[in-house]
Amino acid sequence: MTPSEADYRRAVALLCAGELVAIPTETVYGLGADAANPAAVAKIFAAKGRPADHPLIVHLAGRDAVDHWAEHVPDAAWKLMESFWPGPLTLILKKRSWVPAAVTGGQDTVGLRVPGHPVALELLRRFAACRGQSGGQSGDQSSGEHAGIAAPSANRFGRISPTTAAHVAEELGGRVPLILDGGPCRVGIESTIIDCSRAEAVVLRPGHISPRHLAAVLGRQPAIATAVDAPRVSGSLAAHYAPRTPLRLIAGERLADFLDARRDNRCGVLSPNPPPADIPHDWRRLPADPVGYAHDLYDALRTLDRADVNLIVVETPPAEPAWAAIADRLRRAAAGSGQ
Ligand code: TXA
Ligand code: MG
Repeated sequence: MTPSEADYRRAVALLCAGELVAIPTETVYGLGADAANPAAVAKIFAAKGRPADHPLIVHLAGRDAVDHWAEHVPDAAWKLMESFWPGPLTLILKKRSWVPAAVTGGQDTVGLRVPGHPVALELLRRFAACRGQSGGQSGDQSSGEHAGIAAPSANRFGRISPTTAAHVAEELGGRVPLILDGGPCRVGIESTIIDCSRAEAVVLRPGHISPRHLAAVLGRQPAIATAVDAPRVSGSLAAHYAPRTPLRLIAGERLADFLDARRDNRCGVLSPNPPPADIPHDWRRLPADPVGYAHDLYDALRTLDRADVNLIVVETPPAEPAWAAIADRLRRAAAGSGQ
């Protein structure tokens, strides 16, 4: 799935004019705007229905733009960028003073990521080139070849992140003038977020890049934040990534009994196992490996949310590090469901 030349041109023109463009990344689709333009960034919050004090991730075309946005970048952060960018890792760094408060939620840090998706990278390069040509106008300090696109996940606040262009249209159709279609997202869950602005690196949101991957580069296991440590990370709110249908996590050994007791109350079930014989529920089988499971998870949740079921029942994933990011999303989906 590759956007046409005309699509790219239109996307760059919209971004430069302070409008929104939905963009594919390897994790989930993002709702993008010129990160240096507070009026454009305000449109993101309006379209999502998101509280304005929640900071956004700034997406960059490459590592060479980092110094433009962040200061006091520690060596450990550079090592992480070298190892994992372009890719599903967001670094929280001390921001430069010019970076608009609209992007950082008024904090003194900024989240930066170079996404590992060819369409996102092509758009970021073209947008930066266009900004570079137009040069910095007065009062517009970020213009130039280091321009970035602020983009949260392209869903309504608290809802399931979109992993296809069709999901974005479902969530935000009519609120965004252009959705660039880059096909289904390869990873399927949001980036790992690591805070490198403190003396000790802390993981704020688990993701595809695990603490083990990070430790291999950092030379030690990073700390994992609790929700109390990270109140401004909206992905860390207890209720997030949620379907409208109530969702419950049920351990594998209890699943058969649980569903049997609800034979007259149709459930949607997500499990890596095949369904037992003649089950009256809508059973969706997901891949048994965490990478495949993450890839399919949000689409499956959306499908069940639309289906004629009264309850979504998800088999509790294994309590293993490789499943930590998935378990995190499912816990929050359960907490925020049914609203
Ligand atoms: O994979 C992703 O990260 C996707 C794609 C589009 O890049 N984006 C994404 O954005 O998930 P969003 O806004 O839905 O989640 C980003 C999280 C938020 O929970 C936000 O609070 C946190 O990053 N964040 C951004 N800047 C931060 C900062 N300066 N300090 C702490 N948390 C920050
Ligand atoms: Mg989000």
